[in-house]
Amino acid sequence: FVDPGFSAAVIGWQKQHGRHALPWQNTRDAYRIWLSEIMLQQTQVTAVIPYYQKFLQSFPTVESLAAAPSEAVMSHWAGLGYYTRARNLHRCAQRVTAEYGGRFPDDPDQLADLPGIGRSTAAAIAAFAYGKRAAILDGNVKRVFARVFGVEGFPGSKPVEDLLWRRAVALLPQTDMESYTQGLMDLGATLCVRGKPACDRCPLAQRCVALATGRTAELPVRKPK
Ligand code: ADE
Repeated sequence: FVDPGFSAAVIGWQKQHGRHALPWQNTRDAYRIWLSEIMLQQTQVTAVIPYYQKFLQSFPTVESLAAAPSEAVMSHWAGLGYYTRARNLHRCAQRVTAEYGGRFPDDPDQLADLPGIGRSTAAAIAAFAYGKRAAILDGNVKRVFARVFGVEGFPGSKPVEDLLWRRAVALLPQTDMESYTQGLMDLGATLCVRGKPACDRCPLAQRCVALATGRTAELPVRKPK
C-alpha cells in the first residue's frame, strides 16, 4: 500500500526538528558514513562521537584503514565494545580497497555482501552517501513502524520482521532519501522512544494506530520468554 503523506511528514519534520550537525552528517564521503553506521549499530551517538573523530584522524581513508595493523585498529576500538565490529571493519576496508579500488559501491546488495554490513546498514550508507532509494529497519525504526501501523507480534520474529521490511520498502519516498532516512532514525531516537514517547510533538501522531488505541506502552511487543 502507498501513503505519500507518511514520507512527506517524516521529511518535513526532519528538516525542521531533526538532527543536522552530527559529525557524520553533511558529507557524502561513503567511508565516513560507513564508519559512523558501524559504530552506531550497537552504541549511542554521544559515546560514538569521540571515537569516530579519533578514528578518522588516525585512518583518514579506507586505504589507510586497510593497510593498518590489526592491533592499531583494535586499540582505536577499545572501549566501544562488540569487538567483532572492529574485525569486520578492518576486513571490509581491505575488501573495498582490493575489490572496489577504495570506493564503496552504491548498490545496497553489494554493500550488504561486505563484512559487518547488514541490510539496514547497507541501505543507510546507500541513502546517505549516494541518495539511493533503499529501506532501513533498525531497532528504533521497528519501534516507530510497530506503533504507527499497530503491528502486533514481536518485531524480532521472522514473519513480523518480513512484514515490517515490506512496509519499509513500500513507504520509501521518490526523493529526499537522506532526510527521510535520517528522519526515521531521529524520530525513533528522540520522540518515539521506548519509555514515554513524545506523541504531542510527533509528525506521525495523526496516523499512529498505537496512539489512537492507547497502546504506545504495549507496542512494540516485547520478546516472548
Ligand atoms: N544511528 C544509526 N545511524 C545513525 C545516524 N546516521 N545518525 C544518528 N543515529 C544513528
